[in-house]
Amino acid sequence: MKHQSRPAQWRLPQRLRAILILLTAALVAVGAPLVTSGSASAGTTLGASAAEKGRYFGAAVPAFKLSDGQFAGILDREFNAVTPENEMKWDATEPSQNQFRYTGGDQIVSHAQAHNMRVRGHTLLWHAQQPGWAQSLSGTALRNAAMNHVTQVATHYRGQIYAWDVVNEAFADGGSGARRDSNLQRTGNDWIEVAFRTARAADPAAKLCYNDYNTDGVNAKSTGVYNMVRDFKSRGVPIDCVGFQSHLGTTLPGDYQANLQRFADLGVDVQITELDISQGSNQATMYAAVTRACLAVTRCTGITTWGVRDSDSWRSGDNPLLFDGSGNKKPAYTAVLNALNAGGTTPPPGPVDTSAWYVLLNRNSGKALDVYGASTADGARIT
Ligand code: XIL
Repeated sequence: MKHQSRPAQWRLPQRLRAILILLTAALVAVGAPLVTSGSASAGTTLGASAAEKGRYFGAAVPAFKLSDGQFAGILDREFNAVTPENEMKWDATEPSQNQFRYTGGDQIVSHAQAHNMRVRGHTLLWHAQQPGWAQSLSGTALRNAAMNHVTQVATHYRGQIYAWDVVNEAFADGGSGARRDSNLQRTGNDWIEVAFRTARAADPAAKLCYNDYNTDGVNAKSTGVYNMVRDFKSRGVPIDCVGFQSHLGTTLPGDYQANLQRFADLGVDVQITELDISQGSNQATMYAAVTRACLAVTRCTGITTWGVRDSDSWRSGDNPLLFDGSGNKKPAYTAVLNALNAGGTTPPPGPVDTSAWYVLLNRNSGKALDVYGASTADGARIT
């Protein structure tokens, strides 16, 4: 049998197939396709439009702004993912050793759950925003405290986090491509892989990411990260994704998309995790280009902006976000939405390719008997 891999129920009888092909030819000839796919209506919000492309669109959220009506109104209308801006960092979650505080993080998670939003956990280990007690530890004591932190926090949020930034910003700037010096790095070069294994054990369902900045084009730093990810994949260290912060100025690296793609080609998802772009004449153009780059990379699963309104941004004075300080949509917002809505739908990979459908018609009545996804049919294709 030629089509052994195809389940019997999907096989079209020879004669019906011939009818289908003829009908297709006839309808195409008169310009009236039977079924069009990729015809989902263009979304009117960032989240809905991203979802039509099988992706999420998120924002960094500080817990205290959930009670700001304007902030929460925009968040709930436009976004379908959140990243706690500070609430899941080490200084926030473990202010004293072994005493954990989850108040802010829990508020954000429950808001997200009530509004069907994904949560990006940020971040389990980082050289910055460590509690004072951790800053003063070193060696085995610090290593053990760090891994206990990973276990406790990832266990607390087990099953509720879409993706964790397990380790943040561990590579040095400049041309070395080497690790950044830090108290964590000084506990031994294997601290990152131990953190990933520890996080996997605590929350097997979360995607585990490495996240960094100035890695947005092909450069020495991003190549350092690339080599680490390649090494981790080859040795079975559990890494699922790489986050590109994308705190951008007024130019986008020409190889932005190619850089995302080279990581995706290693077998990890890629995400734009902290996007903000200086306000300038090309802010909208750059936002659109970043959006298109993510859409063009199959394994780019979503985009997060680091805040909602310009007034929420950590980059005061740069006005780098999609909404102005009064909550109005900026030209950059429209550019992103249009980029998300352009082209056909690109659903996430699955067993049935819904970018094209085949309709099987009853020869006498002309009524549809069945509809087949492209990957399960052969012969004529109606797009
Ligand atoms: C920033 C927050 O936005 C600020 O509120 C905080 O004072 C400092 O950290 N890279 C990261 C984020 O991974 O955690 C940082 O967030 C911005 C840079």
